[in-house]
Amino acid sequence: MTAQIINGKEIAQQFCDDLAQQIKQLKKMPKLAVILVGDNPASLIYVRNKQKKAQEIGMECEVFHFAELAQENEIVTLIEQLNMDKSVNGIIVQLPMPKHLNETHILETVQQDKDVDAFKQVMSGALWQKKAPWASATPQGVLLLLKKYVDNLCGKHAVIIGRSNIVGKPMAALLLNEDCTVTISHSKTIGLKDIVKTGDIVVVACGVPRLVKKDWVKPGAVIIDVGISKVDGKLCGDVDFDEVKDVAGAITPVPGGVGPMTIAMLLKNTYTAYLKQMDNL
Ligand code: GUN
Repeated sequence: MTAQIINGKEIAQQFCDDLAQQIKQLKKMPKLAVILVGDNPASLIYVRNKQKKAQEIGMECEVFHFAELAQENEIVTLIEQLNMDKSVNGIIVQLPMPKHLNETHILETVQQDKDVDAFKQVMSGALWQKKAPWASATPQGVLLLLKKYVDNLCGKHAVIIGRSNIVGKPMAALLLNEDCTVTISHSKTIGLKDIVKTGDIVVVACGVPRLVKKDWVKPGAVIIDVGISKVDGKLCGDVDFDEVKDVAGAITPVPGGVGPMTIAMLLKNTYTAYLKQMDNL
């Protein structure tokens, strides 16, 4: 079997084209504020791509770039100003942040109706109770891909590798909300390979390059690779793509799979936040 290659880049582009049409109908441009601390090379690229795509679809995106050694109170003060600023609809803080900063404190400062990354604790809780206005961008993008490539999610066994607050946990909640049977596994799981092999769907977000091999995968399974690493100067994911594509039913490439979907979902969340804020005026 040769897997279908899931073209996230194309699906994200179609999604963004539709979103651009909806944004054109608005009285004013939605605005996203992005806070970046330090010069993590991957974060610099992600933030540049977010800004570029936002502008492409008619959304304003202002980046606030702090030095690596910025103090927590400077960042908190900026977030408080952005919370008050009616022209700003969404606020995100690019992760990871330098180690000297209290990430939880900073993320909790973002006002709930502008938390378009859904990283606040209250947003995670709401997602598990199916009451969230939106979900974090990456798991939401993964779900959209799965809805296109899995006939019926109901009852399917979804195995997630990774338990981060920004991917693994919200991914589990979203799939559970779709009536999947969900297993959350991680780097310390005993018998990981055998568990992964029972998955009709496998979402991998553990940051271990090419961890998932051909003999880990149930024939025909849909494999979503959230990982992105550089090995010998080449980008690769957490799945050994060259091997696994011969067994899976469908698989995302790295790059060009999940990455573009994350940006599309972030912009969709910002649009939704704008609409909600307008409703509440
Ligand atoms: N770092 C990795 N993924 C993300 C994301 O979706 N949002 C933010 N803010 N930081 C990230």
